[in-house]
Amino acid sequence: MNTSVFIASAALPINYTTTWEAPSNIALIKYWGKYEPQLPKNPSLSFTLSNSKTKTKVIFTPHAKNEIDFEFFFHGIQKPDFKPKLKTFFDRIGEYIPWIFSYHLEVFSENSFPHSSGIASSASSMAALSLCLMDLERQLFPEMETVYFYQKASFLARLGSGSAARSIQGPVTFWGKNAVRDSSSDLFATPFGTTLHSVFDNYQDTILLVDKGSKPVSSTQGHNLMHGHPFAENRFLQASNNLSALVPIMETGALDDFIHLVELEALSLHAMMLTSSPYFILMQPNTLAIIHRVWEFRKETSIPLCFTLDAGANVHLLYPKQDIGVIYSFIKEELSGFCQSGQYLLDEVGRGAKKA
Ligand code: DP6
Repeated sequence: MNTSVFIASAALPINYTTTWEAPSNIALIKYWGKYEPQLPKNPSLSFTLSNSKTKTKVIFTPHAKNEIDFEFFFHGIQKPDFKPKLKTFFDRIGEYIPWIFSYHLEVFSENSFPHSSGIASSASSMAALSLCLMDLERQLFPEMETVYFYQKASFLARLGSGSAARSIQGPVTFWGKNAVRDSSSDLFATPFGTTLHSVFDNYQDTILLVDKGSKPVSSTQGHNLMHGHPFAENRFLQASNNLSALVPIMETGALDDFIHLVELEALSLHAMMLTSSPYFILMQPNTLAIIHRVWEFRKETSIPLCFTLDAGANVHLLYPKQDIGVIYSFIKEELSGFCQSGQYLLDEVGRGAKKA
């Protein structure tokens, strides 16, 4: 698909205020490796979450400066130090939303999850902001179709943070051209569709907060280390193959096969970090302790509890809703002991972003 379909026309400015909530997401097939302009080296697939989200309000006021002009507030406090990242985002997307040069923007953002929890907020925040922008664009061009609205919101969000493309819709989305869905694209995320097995409609994700500090190596730095990585090409192929294998599993609900691929992906992501140059380790001793306890628990109980990891030390525990009781007890009595200040967050698969 040609990106020119996403270039809007100019339009007479209007006063407008809108608020959107967008969730975080957790990848099952990991995106790790990219090239300009923010395109993935392999397709990925994720659960859209529900409780971990960003709420963003944008007040658009017409101005005559013909430049991108904005202020950013986080939990009500003006944050000039967040501006450079947003400025880069606006510079990237300006060609697709040229009407933005006619506005002054006040952006008010807040997260539902604690600020220093080690949970990246770039996916949910870029998704929420992109939806506010698309909401105004839809006011300017009311004939816009819903499919286009969500595709372009995902397209814009991707230019802010790759994984943000997957935080627009739910419950499961693809990002990146793949062999199993003709509709898939490197430019934006697309929903899994109606063939998803019902066990995944309300799958649980409990995030064990092993380390709430900021990461020593950012995702962006980690992606860059995939350039010239000796295992990069095999990793991209492995991810594509794992995605092709996972889709029919998520259609039939074969949980043993699901667990195998999800844990394989998590450890393969961290294997890339361990073998980058320079090498780095984001897992902590308690990350490994939890993984071993999860494996023992699964062996002892045959309950389909598994883990995945993002680019950090925290552990996402994934399990069907029907097993919630016994797994909550296991978390409270044992696994919380491996968490910083005993803390964890309860989340589950969600339906995607919504207007607040
Ligand atoms: C390990 O989307 O945070 O969570 O595109 O540089 O903003 P940028 O990176 P980001 O990378 C996410 C990496 C990951 C895997 C994933 O979400 O697929």
